[in-house]
Amino acid sequence: MFMNAVSGSFYSIGRLMRFYTLERLINLHDGYKKTFKIDHHNLMLVQQGGELFLIESLCPHRGHPLSESDLEGDKLRCPLHNYQFDLATGDLIAATEEPCRNLKVYELIYQEKEVGLML
Ligand code: FES
Repeated sequence: MFMNAVSGSFYSIGRLMRFYTLERLINLHDGYKKTFKIDHHNLMLVQQGGELFLIESLCPHRGHPLSESDLEGDKLRCPLHNYQFDLATGDLIAATEEPCRNLKVYELIYQEKEVGLML
């Protein structure tokens, strides 16, 4: 990834990336959970145990909205079939039917008083 010193935009090979603000830091607290749609990315910002996580907002099992999920410590449980994922790594921890892929976890970027991501 390269930064254009004039525009401040980031480039990866052949592709322009930019910073998307998700939330002001002052609005975050434990139990915070909010979904975002940016281009084709369905995202969910979650704060749990003082840590902030950015994950995909649809369950990789059968696409249930994870805005309805339960947070249990560092685990997220999808209510539809009770699959569980590690919030920090996205790893599938428990499955009640066939296994599915891990949850996508996105890198958070902090800029001044805001948090967001590069896409
Ligand atoms: S859709 Fe989430 S566990 Fe099945």
